[in-house]
Amino acid sequence: EFSVNVTLSINGRDHALDIDPRTSLLDACRDHLGLTGSKKGCDHGQCGACTMLVNGRRINACLTLAVMHENDAITTVEGLGTAENLHPMQASFVEHDGYQCGYCTPGQVVSAVGMLGEIGDGWPSHVTKDIKTGTEISGDEIRERMSGNLCRCSAYPNIVDAISAAAG
Ligand code: FES
Repeated sequence: EFSVNVTLSINGRDHALDIDPRTSLLDACRDHLGLTGSKKGCDHGQCGACTMLVNGRRINACLTLAVMHENDAITTVEGLGTAENLHPMQASFVEHDGYQCGYCTPGQVVSAVGMLGEIGDGWPSHVTKDIKTGTEISGDEIRERMSGNLCRCSAYPNIVDAISAAAG
């Protein structure tokens, strides 16, 4: 089997891999590095369960090849917080019951963190505003910006509440 060497920087750590060049970033993390926090819901870009941050921007890790990310800083849900020291977004999901079965939760949390970063960077925001100045982000804007993350249990109201609270 043909394979290539690739070094990925994930959550601040370099990982050297010898993988089939067709391996997705999601499969590289899950199957080769034991980073199984990112979930595979659909494997074709429709559900957002696999969401990671690449240089701070949200991506569907099932749609991109690991070999394309040698020089990138990748963040997975494992890089946000630990069980003892949750990221504020994770803590807010817990506090607001922002899940039911929990399968989509890692992707939701990573996506929410990326979304707030995008707005903080001054990305166009047609409904609201600058969260860094404390301006509230509306539920409508959260719903639109999180529309790439599906929840089969339909826990959306609590997810929006969790993100609103963390953003405020
Ligand atoms: Fe990647 Fe669904 S598993 S979008």
